Amino acid sequence: DKGGYKHFMAKEIAEQPRVLSAAADYYLGGRDTADRMGRELLESIDFSNVDRLVMVACGTAALACHTAKYWFEQIARLPVEVDIASEYRYREPPLSDRTVALFVSQSGETADTLAALRYCAGKARKIVSVVNVATSSIARESDVALPILAGTEIGVASTKAFTCQLTVLATMAITAARQRGHLDAAAETKLCEQLMAVPRLVGQALTCEEEVKKIASHLGHVSDALFLGRGAMYPLALEGALKLKEISYIHAEGYASGELKHGPIALVDDKLPVVVLAPSDALFDKSVSNMQEVMARGGKIIMVSDQAGLSEGGEGVWKTIEMPTIEGPFAAITYAVPMQLLSYHTAIEKGTDVDQPRNLAKSVTVE
Ligand code: F6R
Repeated sequence: DKGGYKHFMAKEIAEQPRVLSAAADYYLGGRDTADRMGRELLESIDFSNVDRLVMVACGTAALACHTAKYWFEQIARLPVEVDIASEYRYREPPLSDRTVALFVSQSGETADTLAALRYCAGKARKIVSVVNVATSSIARESDVALPILAGTEIGVASTKAFTCQLTVLATMAITAARQRGHLDAAAETKLCEQLMAVPRLVGQALTCEEEVKKIASHLGHVSDALFLGRGAMYPLALEGALKLKEISYIHAEGYASGELKHGPIALVDDKLPVVVLAPSDALFDKSVSNMQEVMARGGKIIMVSDQAGLSEGGEGVWKTIEMPTIEGPFAAITYAVPMQLLSYHTAIEKGTDVDQPRNLAKSVTVE
């Protein structure tokens, strides 16, 4: 049931404030403090005597891991390795019992992710998974399985599962930080509040849809696009590019903004749209200078930022998408919304099959 929406993808994008709030509540014990299941699951991982976290997944789920790496390193001071499952499983990577191995999968049935999990079983200290389907193989074969509580995701392009994965990984990073002695009570409360604010911020971000539609009416006619970001916005740039490729079949690439001058800047001409994810944070000035390098070569910038960022760095850009002002490290969850909407409306503009893109399956159970 599409609940009045034209596509499952649109419905699933719109559901995010509600499902994110359910996920944050479950793990941070918001309204329903009687239910401590989520907290207990998190505590049971025990990051205190761990010296490495290995995160393995495929596609969008791997990009959720890549984003969360920034949080685990910055907040919990835990060294993190992220890899895609199809590479990890055949690399014979050495593993010690001071490593937590974490697998992220919406379906819980992705063949490569499951094989990587089996490789780690018996070697790592603990096998942890972050899944949407609680009865899945990956959940069943884990020591600790954390549900993302997104509800069934039907659209092939992952949307609400991605932001719920990020939310759960954020609660895990906060818990790990406390267990490892890197967070006093006040700092923990602040991070929890910042994460609890995300569902409301995502709701605000959804109001950019009209602006995004106008931009999509142009994007529907380009052959290539570039997505740039720094810090946790870098994996999100990869996700924006992946989403656009998947459902609109436009060739798109994501890059870390700082890599621009090491190659991809050669692609820039007056036809290339370049989406820049640049919230006004500590890296903002660096992002603006990368943006100016693109503009100097005629590239058409679509700048995604908050009010302060747009007024400080938005001069001369082609289009803007305004996001709410966000405190703290979790802005990437909210900035996922314009990435989803941009690919959705571009696909509508092109008339492609949004919920069932060609050549793709919802669950990849073969290698
Ligand atoms: C992208 C997408 C895929 C999946 C990937 C992993 O929109 O949906 O990249 O993220 O196939 O699937 P799960 O999470 O089921 O392991």
